[in-house]
Amino acid sequence: MNIVWTTSEVAPYAKTGGLADVSYSLPYALAENGHNVSVFMPYYPQVMGEKCEDTEVVYELLGVPFGEGNEEWAQIRRHKISDNLSFYFIEHNNFFNRPKLYDMDGHEYSDNAERFIFLSRAIMQAVLALEIKVDVLHTNDWHTALCSIYLKSELYKSYANFSQAKSIITIHNIGYQGVFNKANLYWTGLGWDYFNVHCLEFFDQLNFLKAGVMISDMVTTVSPTYAEEILSPEYAFNLEHPLQHRAVQGKLRGILNGIDVNEWSPETDTLIPHNFSHTDLTGKALCKQALQEELGLTVNPDVPLYGVVSRLAEQKGIDVFIDCIDEMLKEDDVQFAVIGSGDKALEVALANYAKLYPSKFACFIGYNNKLAHMVEAGSDFFVMPSRYEPCGLNQMYSMKYGTLPIVRATGGLEDTVNNFDEKHPEKSTGFKLYELYPASLRDTMRWATSIYFNDKPAFKQMIINGMTTDFSWHHTAVEYEELYQHANTRF
Ligand code: ADP
Ligand code: GLC
Repeated sequence: MNIVWTTSEVAPYAKTGGLADVSYSLPYALAENGHNVSVFMPYYPQVMGEKCEDTEVVYELLGVPFGEGNEEWAQIRRHKISDNLSFYFIEHNNFFNRPKLYDMDGHEYSDNAERFIFLSRAIMQAVLALEIKVDVLHTNDWHTALCSIYLKSELYKSYANFSQAKSIITIHNIGYQGVFNKANLYWTGLGWDYFNVHCLEFFDQLNFLKAGVMISDMVTTVSPTYAEEILSPEYAFNLEHPLQHRAVQGKLRGILNGIDVNEWSPETDTLIPHNFSHTDLTGKALCKQALQEELGLTVNPDVPLYGVVSRLAEQKGIDVFIDCIDEMLKEDDVQFAVIGSGDKALEVALANYAKLYPSKFACFIGYNNKLAHMVEAGSDFFVMPSRYEPCGLNQMYSMKYGTLPIVRATGGLEDTVNNFDEKHPEKSTGFKLYELYPASLRDTMRWATSIYFNDKPAFKQMIINGMTTDFSWHHTAVEYEELYQHANTRF
């Protein structure tokens, strides 16, 4: 199949979260299975890193209609990985040459509607200019959701490149929908016919994600449990009715993400000081020591070390974590290593604990991939108290590194972690809490601590269970292939 994958971020070129990881690994897995995959994203300044030395300009002056009678010009660059896998970058100085991808100083860029309308339209134009035939147009989140609308519109549907194409939208996070003033419809070139309840209209505003959900041939999300959760008002951020509508049609599916086991593997990881495997965990103990040294924690192999690597956003429940650790820092023999950035109040609260308890609590405020790998490898437990979690990758990374996840049972966390069952340690891989309160998180962490100290065989068994679970993209890629084949039919 000829697959066009559209996204706002891809790792390693530019990344703010898991969408970037998925936008590299899944196209890669699909290409390995023999499909032709073309991935499109913006050319941000971050792309020009060492990973991308061999980017070549493949189209210099791409005309992109933008607003009535107006045209913007873009350049298309390519990073060719193999004959059937290329990453294409849409270069437009004014829209994408910015220090951060979506926001500055905690404020979204005021022209984000224009930026991502432009991106979506530019991708459609690029597909024509590069003469790419499309069997599957796979859009991701709100940023490129408009591609599905363009595909079915008078503007593009008669082009031979697109005439056989099925469209898929994957929801990685329904908390971000691309809701904008309706005046921005002007930039799309679509006309007011599209401003209706079956497409872009949403409480008298534009909603790009909603339009993608309504119009795409198939809607997926990144775990089976999240696919169910988003049908209810508690999780849907007001999109429950469009999603229920698609679910009744058999057009909504949850497909669990995988992880890139080339990047996240304790046997071969070059970002951690010592490699290890489930048959020899010596290196893991050395990684714990190195992490304690690196972060200035007391070096002690026998104290349970809890890691966190997270965007500091409402979604992630870090406020609840902060509310529960005070008592543990005062009373328990535990350590914490936290890496994260985002919400300023949370950053300040974390930094404060690091000042108060330097030998027990360490944090790094900012984005640091090497430290993220070191925390995954060197911790005993990994904490993810998410309010909602469409899939979550870190809990899978941590299991691969023999670090037991402590998670709220939601979305992909529910689907990937098996709660500790003392009668069945052979099936257990982590610890779950169901209600998100400081006391329940604290109780769950103390439960984990008690297993660490008092049931060493079960603790070791769980480590091995997680490390030997297959989280690779293989199964996921097969499920998407099946979905692509049947996107036009009922499931
Ligand atoms: P989300 O996409 O909602 O942030 P995921 O668990 O799917 O959650 O993916 C998060 C990704 O971002 C992981 O690869 C994680 O290691 C990485 N990450 C998040 N925050 C940081 C940080 N401060 N430093 C390094 N990596 C981070
Ligand atoms: C989003 C979600 C996260 C998911 C990632 C990749 O950022 O918040 O749960 O793992 O997308 O699909």
